Amino acid sequence: MSREQVEPELTSSVTAPVVIVGAGHSGVAVAAGLRARGWEGGILLLEAEKGTPYERPPLSKELLKDGAPDESAVLRKEKFYQDKRIDRVAGIAVDSIDRSGRTVLLSDGSRHAYHRLVIATGSRARPLTVPGAGLSGVQALRTKDDALELKRLLVAGARVAIIGAGYIGLEVAAAAAARGCDVTVLEFQDRVMSRVTSAPVSRHFEELHERHGVRFVFSAAVTAIEGRERAERVVTADGAVFHADVVLAGIGVIPNQELAAEAGLECRDGILVDADGLTSDPAIYATGDVTRFTSPIDGASQRLECIQNAQAQADRVAAHITVQKAAVPEIPWFWTVQHGVRLQTAGVRHPDDEVIVRGDPATGGFSVVYLRDGRLAAVDTVAGLTDFRPARKLIAQGARINPALAADPGIPLSEAVLTGAIPDAPAPTHADLATARI
Ligand code: NAI
Repeated sequence: MSREQVEPELTSSVTAPVVIVGAGHSGVAVAAGLRARGWEGGILLLEAEKGTPYERPPLSKELLKDGAPDESAVLRKEKFYQDKRIDRVAGIAVDSIDRSGRTVLLSDGSRHAYHRLVIATGSRARPLTVPGAGLSGVQALRTKDDALELKRLLVAGARVAIIGAGYIGLEVAAAAAARGCDVTVLEFQDRVMSRVTSAPVSRHFEELHERHGVRFVFSAAVTAIEGRERAERVVTADGAVFHADVVLAGIGVIPNQELAAEAGLECRDGILVDADGLTSDPAIYATGDVTRFTSPIDGASQRLECIQNAQAQADRVAAHITVQKAAVPEIPWFWTVQHGVRLQTAGVRHPDDEVIVRGDPATGGFSVVYLRDGRLAAVDTVAGLTDFRPARKLIAQGARINPALAADPGIPLSEAVLTGAIPDAPAPTHADLATARI
């Protein structure tokens, strides 16, 4: 981009930097995006954790593997921050925001002025609140330190009780089983990953885990962790007792919105932002897991916990600060790998979407298509990506889909698109195929 495109008041006369609070995927992407878009003013990246900002996906996967190095991949090398003149303060938390004075106050008493402030504070693991949750051996997994501590505990033969069968619980279950641990997963709902996927995908992954020796207990309400000095047992509401040396709680996350809420910014399970990432204060943006915003795809109010959104929102913030055009909003996508099997999701499924299974789960590779009012809303692909790319395009187009054609894995998804009215009782006829071509 050219310098001329940047509003003059935003560069030449600006002395205070853009201050970014939080150096996770989104915060670092804002800093990088500002420089990529030609921002020449100061950039200050503030992070409560020490060290070089790092990638989170390996924490529940590669990092936990036997013999894997303890170093998690960094988001950017130190040289990047130096070359791009991105100043960093790591290991000191931001305590408060003074909106009228346009400064942030750090816990060491230092104060930093900002020209624009970007809140990218992410989310934290939802704490387990039952009696005994504070015992040693009870773990969450959010930070690199959490992951390293968990890795130390996952020794062969250890009895591992995992509370929550979401992404964290299942990825750790796979890592623990591979290391020879005895793994039991206790889930509140009646199937795994119920927040993010449908029953056919849940069943497929349950069977996969069971083949690797993982046990599941569904409809389990954990009431206490017991033990003398360390966790020894997990107790559920029906009186069942599960012996455990290690207890991992993977029961979701809560947005780190307190800094914003205390500064009077509008929050509702996330900091409310508009399409440009602006909060209710025109000098303050928020981006990533901590935000709640209106989906440009279907108008739903949403808080997305994924890297794709963290990066896409960061780019929109960088674009707005530099007064440039942002990229067209992407369809959100998510992925997980468990026992080497990859689940890739395009779009955001709603629980009442119509569910169409494409292919036979028994073969190991299949997709599940989600239709909302006849339109493609989301697609899960298991152990294969053929449907993934076309799905993202078709979801963005709001394509209407013939359910019967979509159920046939031999027909490309793009050929299940309807150009006319949605039939009441669709059948895969030759005529359908002809009208379905785009
Ligand atoms: P999650 O929301 O995916 O799953 C939490 C699970 O815990 C749900 O199945 C829920 O029903 C269950 N649960 C909640 N309270 C419970 C209780 N008291 N007892 C038993 N079960 C209970 O959250 P998770 O797995 O903790 O992941 C945290 C965050 O990390 C999410 O933002 C997730 O997107 C992210 N993450 C993403 C990964 C990926 O995309 N591959 C991998 C790992 C984490």
